[in-house]
Amino acid sequence: MTAQSRAANDVSSPNDLDAWWLPFTANRSFKQRPRMITRAKGMYYYTPDGREVIDGAAGLWCCNAGHNRDEITAAIQAQAAELDYSPAFQFGHSKGFAAASRIAQLAPGDLNHVFFCNSGSEAVDTALKVALAYWNVRGQGSKTRLIGRERGYHGVGFGGISVGGIVKNRQFFGTLLAGVDHLPHTYNRAEQAFSRGEPEWGAHLADELERIVALHDASTIAAVIVEPMAGSTGVLPPPKGYLQRLRQICDKYGILLIFDEVISGFGRLGTAFAAERYGVIPDMITFAKGVNSGTVPMGGVIVREGLYNTFMQGPEHMIELFHGYTYSGHPLACAAAIATQDIYRDEKLFERAKALEPVWADAIHSLKGLPNVLDIRTIGLVGAIDLASRPDAVGARAFEAMDRGFNEYNLMMRITGDTIALSPPLIITEEQIGEIVDKLAKVIKAVA
Ligand SMILES: Cc1ncc(COP(=O)(O)O)c(C=O)c1O
Repeated sequence: MTAQSRAANDVSSPNDLDAWWLPFTANRSFKQRPRMITRAKGMYYYTPDGREVIDGAAGLWCCNAGHNRDEITAAIQAQAAELDYSPAFQFGHSKGFAAASRIAQLAPGDLNHVFFCNSGSEAVDTALKVALAYWNVRGQGSKTRLIGRERGYHGVGFGGISVGGIVKNRQFFGTLLAGVDHLPHTYNRAEQAFSRGEPEWGAHLADELERIVALHDASTIAAVIVEPMAGSTGVLPPPKGYLQRLRQICDKYGILLIFDEVISGFGRLGTAFAAERYGVIPDMITFAKGVNSGTVPMGGVIVREGLYNTFMQGPEHMIELFHGYTYSGHPLACAAAIATQDIYRDEKLFERAKALEPVWADAIHSLKGLPNVLDIRTIGLVGAIDLASRPDAVGARAFEAMDRGFNEYNLMMRITGDTIALSPPLIITEEQIGEIVDKLAKVIKAVA
């Protein structure tokens, strides 16, 4: 790090960049040319040198209500002053029950019960464990296989990377969970390029579950887990009819269906959950991120009535599920969740995302034809742009786009491989959509 860049990124607290090993980051490159953020408000981040950077990614797909909302800040402050922590093993507090009720109310059908944890990864591991335990409690302990999908991202726990389908997240970590199989992913550029919303082609890929059942037999399969829209792998909206077909096949064979809605939950696709958009009721929904607009770590699993009731038997003094986290339903996270849900309701942010979807799609698709743009996908307030890889340097073009986007064009974006992913806070205005697209066009030309 040069003396000049150190000065440019100076912050009031000690700021030696050496000690923090950043997650999912090119650490050496970052430490030579840091992308530092000091504060945020609404749609914008602010850098130490005073630049205003528009947030095209809602942080990491999480700050759906925008940044530093006064109502959420006040709720967290008041909660910290009143009840900083209380255990959730054998004890409870009112904000935990209120937050669970609010979340359950948003979920469709009889998805009525909420188990809290602290992240999307924990939510996925919780859902997978609940699925296995459910079949055990029902006396069908042979149902142990878990089915994920290629290109799926379900966080970084051993359960999540086992059912996930992103090779770099798996290849370094041993043999993972046994008994996992994968559906094929649903992306086919030749058939789907430049689709808006759900592509027409691909529903038949759900039938691959029939093949997996034929191979292993339904008596060995506990659950299927998919993201309704695969986000982290580069935004793959589900083909029309695909999720409905998965539900039918799961019903036919008595297999639990889990929707990982860590990204798609809380308005991202214009409805509270993607399950509502697709009219499909899964047996469990995992959530995190948008639940409290990214303010305090929180995740959870929403389960259907019958599933919950299956556990509620035996002697009443007995613990029904041997699972939980010290910070499950943390009072600060719950207070933040309630304040966030109030904002979503009062400002009609899910409806806003729905209304903006066509405006957003037009704007992002207007980038078609720029150098190296191979495909563009949009759905809800999500967009992805695939750039052609540089010869022998997969990921280098998008990495440069992300870095120069932040440092030179004041635009924050996500990248995965050579795909740029966008998912702005749901408070975005039409003018700000224009700002993102103008900046993006410049960045894409700059990295040509
Ligand atoms: C679908 C999905 N599941 C799980 C996770 C993991 O969440 P966390 O990073 O909070 O553990 C993510 C994170 O992006 C996600 O997109």
